[in-house]
Amino acid sequence: KLPVTVYPNPEIASIAVAHRIASLIKNKQQKGESAVLGLATGSTPHRVYVELIRMHKEEGLSFQNVITFNLDEYYPMQPDAEQSYVSFMYNTFFDHIDIDKNNVHIPDGTISKNEIHGYCLEYERKISALGGLDLQLLGIGRTGHIGFNEPGSAPNSGTRLVTLDDLTRRDASRNFGGKENVPTKAITMGVGTIFKAKEIILMAWNSTKADIVKKAVEGPITAEVPATYLQLSDNVEFVLDTESSSALT
Ligand code: F6R
Repeated sequence: KLPVTVYPNPEIASIAVAHRIASLIKNKQQKGESAVLGLATGSTPHRVYVELIRMHKEEGLSFQNVITFNLDEYYPMQPDAEQSYVSFMYNTFFDHIDIDKNNVHIPDGTISKNEIHGYCLEYERKISALGGLDLQLLGIGRTGHIGFNEPGSAPNSGTRLVTLDDLTRRDASRNFGGKENVPTKAITMGVGTIFKAKEIILMAWNSTKADIVKKAVEGPITAEVPATYLQLSDNVEFVLDTESSSALT
């Protein structure tokens, strides 16, 4: 069974996750090594970044040995667009810490169609060359997606161009002023890419995620709910609040 930790609220849960990330960074620092982090965007990890920024400003936590790879980006997407995941990551996190911007990797939503395949292979190669991801942070979409691996994704999938599910586009419509403005595609790390991380933390908050969390944790393993693949990993933990865990038996 999947390890599940339930916290009273997202605030306390996020602080706990941020402290784990800080420990990883400091342990690596002591050994003179880099910490390679897989990061997510969206409302779920937001408070984790807030706490990490606080630790940087108030406790001197340094990110100079941190290398990051984001899960995904819309396609097509200009990095300076308000809705881009590049904007999200810089506005909510990177602009407020001392990370070397050369160590930040976010899939490029401007790459030309015929270069995407090579670009995605290179994204994978860069992660592997660093010895793989030490920790991957995940949220979960109401389709059961992790990253933008929508229903139908293969367990061994790599970084690639995907088509977003209609529900995912509806859930994103508020940020784009209507579903018709949400890109139909995205570049995402694959399920296989995520699986190679040494540690995976999936977070979910609020009652809106209760049904999909139940399927992910207790449902049969199926491509229809890609998050169920995580049941096959020995390195994953679900971090939930009371509400998102409320449908679990
Ligand atoms: C974001 C990502 C997505 C989100 C998921 C939940 O980089 O890969 O899988 O984690 O869509 O989004 P929120 O957190 O906004 O509910």
